[in-house]
Amino acid sequence: MKMNRDLATALASYPLLIPRLYNYLRLGILPLLDIAEAVPQFGKVLDVGCGYGLLDIYLAKTSSQRYVIGSELNSKRVRVAKQAACGIENVEFVQEDLLRGQHVGDINCAILVDLLHHISYERQQALIAAIWEALAVGGTLIVKDMDDRPAFKYYINLVHDKLMTGFDKLSFISAGKLRANLAARGFVVHSCRTLPHPFYAHYLLTCKKADSNLSSRDVVHLQEVEG
Ligand SMILES: C[S@@+](CC[C@H](N)C(=O)[O-])C[C@H]1O[C@@H](n2cnc3c(N)ncnc32)[C@H](O)[C@@H]1O
Repeated sequence: MKMNRDLATALASYPLLIPRLYNYLRLGILPLLDIAEAVPQFGKVLDVGCGYGLLDIYLAKTSSQRYVIGSELNSKRVRVAKQAACGIENVEFVQEDLLRGQHVGDINCAILVDLLHHISYERQQALIAAIWEALAVGGTLIVKDMDDRPAFKYYINLVHDKLMTGFDKLSFISAGKLRANLAARGFVVHSCRTLPHPFYAHYLLTCKKADSNLSSRDVVHLQEVEG
């Protein structure tokens, strides 16, 4: 597990034992510092499906030029996150569903960490469209999700998520498929890479909202330049 002093401080800000323990165990799986490295140092950051908000507290603590919004459907998680963030000026937690369109063009960076495979393919498409609307032109979208290869890692995560969610339906989207979906929506994909873990097939994708005045030929050209 990668750890630094700021992350240890963020972890310690959870007063209740269960969320603190959950976060600690989660860090054994989630490469949080690799995700955080991809986030711009300044601007308005929206983490959709933020859970207990550990990433957001870490992001807020490590740059005062960021304003971080953790958005979450589950009211209990929002309550715990608010408690942990008490006294930190540049982070807030809200109970909301991004699909209701609360943010329009004012977000500089949106983050989705292990959210997509927990929602249906239809909702994934709707969420990507809502994020497009929420982002400012040139804004960044960062997605950390689970790939379907190699098969043994896919099955480990499948069993893990089935047990954690009480056998909810899961809709995994591979890195390749997500990349194609985002490109079709007009995002310019900057990087898409595997984050090493012995048991989990993490991938991290970053892309930018292109100017909608660009022609589709310009966007395709940008995609090619960005590789
Ligand atoms: C697997 S958890 C991941 C939590 C956190 N990102 C992490 O990595 O620890 C997915 C979270 O997304 C939330 N969620 C699902 N759909 C959402 C939506 N439309 N808007 C906000 N949160 C949502 C769920 O309540 C859940 O807490």
